Amino acid sequence: MTKPQKAAVVGGGVIGGGWVARLILAGVDVALADPDPDAKRKLEAIMANAERAEARLWPGQSRGRRGKLSYAASIGEAVEGAGLVQESAPERLELKQRIHQEIGEAAAADAVIGSSTSGLLPTDIQGGTPRADRVMVAHPYNPVYLLPVVEIVGGKDTSDDAIAKAMTIYESIGMKPVHLKKEIDAFVGDRLLEAMWRESLWLIKDGIATAETIDDVVRYGLGLRYAQMGQFMTYRLGGGEAGVRHFLEQFGPSLKWPWTKLMDVPEWDDELIDMIAEQSDAQAHGKSIRELEEIRDNNLVDILKALGRNNWGAGTLLKNPAEDAVKSGITGLPEDKVMANGMVETWSGHVQHDWTDYNDHMTEFRYLEVFSMATDELLVWIGGGPAYVESGSSWYTVETHIRHIDEIASGKPMRVETQIVENDGKRIHLFHHLYGSDDGRLLATGEHMLMHVDMKAGRSSAMPEAMKSHTDSIASRQSSLERPEAAGAAIGIRRK
Ligand SMILES: NC(=O)c1ccc[n+]([C@@H]2O[C@H](COP(=O)([O-])OP(=O)(O)OC[C@H]3O[C@@H](n4cnc5c(N)ncnc54)[C@H](O)[C@@H]3O)[C@@H](O)[C@H]2O)c1
Repeated sequence: MTKPQKAAVVGGGVIGGGWVARLILAGVDVALADPDPDAKRKLEAIMANAERAEARLWPGQSRGRRGKLSYAASIGEAVEGAGLVQESAPERLELKQRIHQEIGEAAAADAVIGSSTSGLLPTDIQGGTPRADRVMVAHPYNPVYLLPVVEIVGGKDTSDDAIAKAMTIYESIGMKPVHLKKEIDAFVGDRLLEAMWRESLWLIKDGIATAETIDDVVRYGLGLRYAQMGQFMTYRLGGGEAGVRHFLEQFGPSLKWPWTKLMDVPEWDDELIDMIAEQSDAQAHGKSIRELEEIRDNNLVDILKALGRNNWGAGTLLKNPAEDAVKSGITGLPEDKVMANGMVETWSGHVQHDWTDYNDHMTEFRYLEVFSMATDELLVWIGGGPAYVESGSSWYTVETHIRHIDEIASGKPMRVETQIVENDGKRIHLFHHLYGSDDGRLLATGEHMLMHVDMKAGRSSAMPEAMKSHTDSIASRQSSLERPEAAGAAIGIRRK
């Protein structure tokens, strides 16, 4: 996978802004060209959404490098030196053609030039432009920073090399590029959506169902299936044990029954527009677009995480933004995580909404989860991350003592400071302090004994020299710290 160092995004609205966010979070520098004087404000709102979603996706985990954002004065300036150019300008063919002319004049010969168009043909967009062989449709879905699919459609002049490179570039930024073999208006996703949209409009116009009823049928039913099985796998299961052939034979003929209106479109008049707009307003219950975006993103994150837990569908693409650094072995102690007294900050994040109990306080097992993440971070710094585990050795936790000292509510920020109490080459005795970041209250302490294990031999073993020296160097910076008063404390009912 070849991740470009620099990308250019031309047009920074709903979709262009989403591209900027995805690229920046994936560590790619981005130059944005958008003539709108309000472009910066619009982009900042999208970036805020994307960062909130990322923090929820990877609570408290260290981030990989973020790309740098710059605002270019012209398309030519944005495109210069970019390995990927993503045009996301308004859906007007002559405007896109003009923009691609400018892009082509400045783009590198091997750049990938993608258009986010929802339905225009790549041959029409690329026609006559200087780098027509590099131009293709790369159609994403909103919000681009969370939804991974991108439809890649080449036009008459697009080279195979450009398509092949595009597939690796979009993959390198966490996406699922799918290549369509022929260009057609509206590609695959929008064709499917259009059929459903048309049918929904008839249902409203004919007074059969409201916008809310139709959405409920999707939200409480078929939509739940789509995110994980899609169309064909869902129907495969619909055939039950009799199989997919049985399903096709049973339901195929019904397509000829006269109950769908697939090719007719209702008269697009003010009456229909007013009816849909009023029903849509009622459905929103006064929530603003920003509030609805937040609800949508929170749900998408949780759906992606659930799929990730089952190693299925879009969940298989989830990748901690810092994973590359983590996989490469010892990452060393980041200086910005060391406090003046030598304590190291191993975790910071927020109380997630599903971490709380019926009192809206963080529930007890989440404290262990936070302390585990803090321990994992320290292990990454000394070289005990996933790459080390793959090599056949690891650290096992053999004893834990958590003290719950104060409560904390959903959404509140927290941080963990960690002290290495002892380290004898085979064992590490850790002591974590969890604080509320707002007010510095001590919320809990976590004390853990870790044992270095040779997993192939199935027994404890000494850690390697390099790992020991990293551990010692952290411990030596903590030499002025007292042993925590509670270290080694036993549980018991104190008698006065
Ligand atoms: N909105 C969606 O759900 C969606 C989904 C997939 C694809 N798309 C496609 O993405 C593209 C952009 O759609 P959008 O929804 O982001 O529109 P938008 O109106 O939100 O954004 C368009 C942006 O382009 C800028 N712009 C206008 N003229 C420009 C120029 N000459 N040079 C550079 N920038 C210019 C505008 O200032 C605006 O910020 C369209 O082709 C659309 O079909 C949209």
